[in-house]
Amino acid sequence: MTRESIIIAPPRADRVATTMAFIRPAERSAAGEDKEGRFAPLFALSYPLVSNLLMKQHRIGKLASFALFGLVALPLGVRGDEVAALKTPLVTAANGMVVAQEAMAARIGVDVLKNGGNAIDAAVAVGFAMAVTYPRAGNVGGGGFMVIHLAGGDDTVIDYRETAPAAINATSFLDAQGNADPQKSRESALAIGVPGTVAGLAMAEAKYGSGHFTLAELIGPAIALARDGITVADDTADSLPVDRARLARWPSAAAIFLKADGSALSPGDKLVQPDLANTLAAIAKGGPRAFYEGPVAEKLAAAVQAAGGVMTADDLKDYRAIERKPVRGTYRGYDIISMPPPSSGGVALIEMLNILEGYDLARAERAQALFLMVETMKRAYADRAWFLGDPDRVQVPVARLTSKSYAADWRATIDPAHATPAGEIHAGGTVDREGRNTTHFSVIDQFGNAVSNTYTINFSYGVGLVAAGTGVLLNNELDDFAAKANAPNAYGLLGDVANAPAPGKRPLSSMTPTIVLKDGKPFLVTGSPGGSFIINIVLQVVSNVIDRGMDIAGAVSAPRVHDQWMPDRVLAEPTLSSDLVTALQARGDTVQVRPLITSANSILVTPAGITGAADPRTRGALAAGY
Ligand code: DON
Repeated sequence: MTRESIIIAPPRADRVATTMAFIRPAERSAAGEDKEGRFAPLFALSYPLVSNLLMKQHRIGKLASFALFGLVALPLGVRGDEVAALKTPLVTAANGMVVAQEAMAARIGVDVLKNGGNAIDAAVAVGFAMAVTYPRAGNVGGGGFMVIHLAGGDDTVIDYRETAPAAINATSFLDAQGNADPQKSRESALAIGVPGTVAGLAMAEAKYGSGHFTLAELIGPAIALARDGITVADDTADSLPVDRARLARWPSAAAIFLKADGSALSPGDKLVQPDLANTLAAIAKGGPRAFYEGPVAEKLAAAVQAAGGVMTADDLKDYRAIERKPVRGTYRGYDIISMPPPSSGGVALIEMLNILEGYDLARAERAQALFLMVETMKRAYADRAWFLGDPDRVQVPVARLTSKSYAADWRATIDPAHATPAGEIHAGGTVDREGRNTTHFSVIDQFGNAVSNTYTINFSYGVGLVAAGTGVLLNNELDDFAAKANAPNAYGLLGDVANAPAPGKRPLSSMTPTIVLKDGKPFLVTGSPGGSFIINIVLQVVSNVIDRGMDIAGAVSAPRVHDQWMPDRVLAEPTLSSDLVTALQARGDTVQVRPLITSANSILVTPAGITGAADPRTRGALAAGY
């Protein structure tokens, strides 16, 4: 299928005009600069020791923050040509493991495994627990994706992405002049998608749980933690002050997360969530329908409407999680199992791996390997912007985009010595001169099952609105639609008709929960938060393990780069050696050095056992096994 033959493609002349519009300097810098506030949610997902400084960059300045980061990171060890930032410990276990962003939830998952549960049981328990213990991203008010490998050999995915309420349409997120209105798609109750997490976790448990536990038993620990309260610590302590003002807009959220004087709960304070405990107890008693129908659903809809949104009780009643076939690829003999549309993650990941497979990255000079990776990223993200959307609404050419021959065509457009300007790259395989918060956890059990789960409410603490009487913190996921063709979303991502808002439609995601198999058995389980960064972060973890032979702690800790085609620049973590930055610049790339806010909590199976690594970039994550 050619780019023009999919049903959504406009004529070629429009494409050229569109592409030229992409690269108008004003737009380019606006889409790329955090000063516009578009990347604020990414900065809010913080590096442990520098996050507060970064959030106060108007006072201290970005450079000073990076310098401090360098001071912190530099003594921690050098690996070859890169400075290894805050290298995380390698955790080894014989039987099973959970690596999650919040330690209490990770331990709950390991307890389930120890008591004979399988990886799916554990993942469901972790998913509900993190709705309580990691309110910044863990959720029942958002959605996500679960990739499952079953010991018998089958692979499947559960799509529990939020949907647009029936009253959302192509003009919902435009202002009176017809321009994209970020206030509507990011900060208002209009941005709230119908939550999918409860349906998704319940579907996973009903279909693939071991049968040793009831859903109620798996929700039990979460209910207790919500009712008894937890001590504010780690990343929650770091992020609450950052998002204080957004939460303060809604009294129902302020009552939970802020003190009487309006300041955020501090480290050591108790976070008690009795309404959330009641909502979880209702689900434990009545199953997922108790969330989507009856008193909980009515309160959710009433709260969204009172805040100016359009979600109704019928939207909730109509919500369904969907089991889909994973998108599959191969990379140097390993099988890649990842998330199909409505995520762009799996398709773009496999497309990039296919392109890179044509190069001997293991032997290539590091600078050259990095350059080729960046060129690959630009091409896959151009395809993402053009082709991808909800597969139930638009035709997505998955087979073509993930084929080896398509990758070979793209590879032929890469000049090994010179960076291709983004404006010359066109979705569909040609180069010419025309032209905030998510969380990932990984689980492996003693039986050979594996789960890779990424779920989100989009920004940290979602839209900030807790539906009164439910304790449910709601998402602002609908900003992941292209509010208008080629208007960047909060992550600077562009989209077109394929990802236009429409009733009941799922907004395109970048979440990339992935399982890599070796000889049909789980080898690597990985994924990450980070908005547009996610796909490239997963790519680099996979390549670090397979091409560079790193252990999982090294693969997760190693400095990362990111290029999303538009804006036309490479982001490089401050821990990447300046020699590598210079090498990219010498080939023609514009490089901006800054933290990439991501957290790839991953597991690697080795002959010595199950090894896990919690990403050191965000405080509080834990790799726990037994
Ligand atoms: O689904 C997506 O691609 C985004 N809503 C994910 C947002 C995210 O990762 C924020 N975390 N930094």
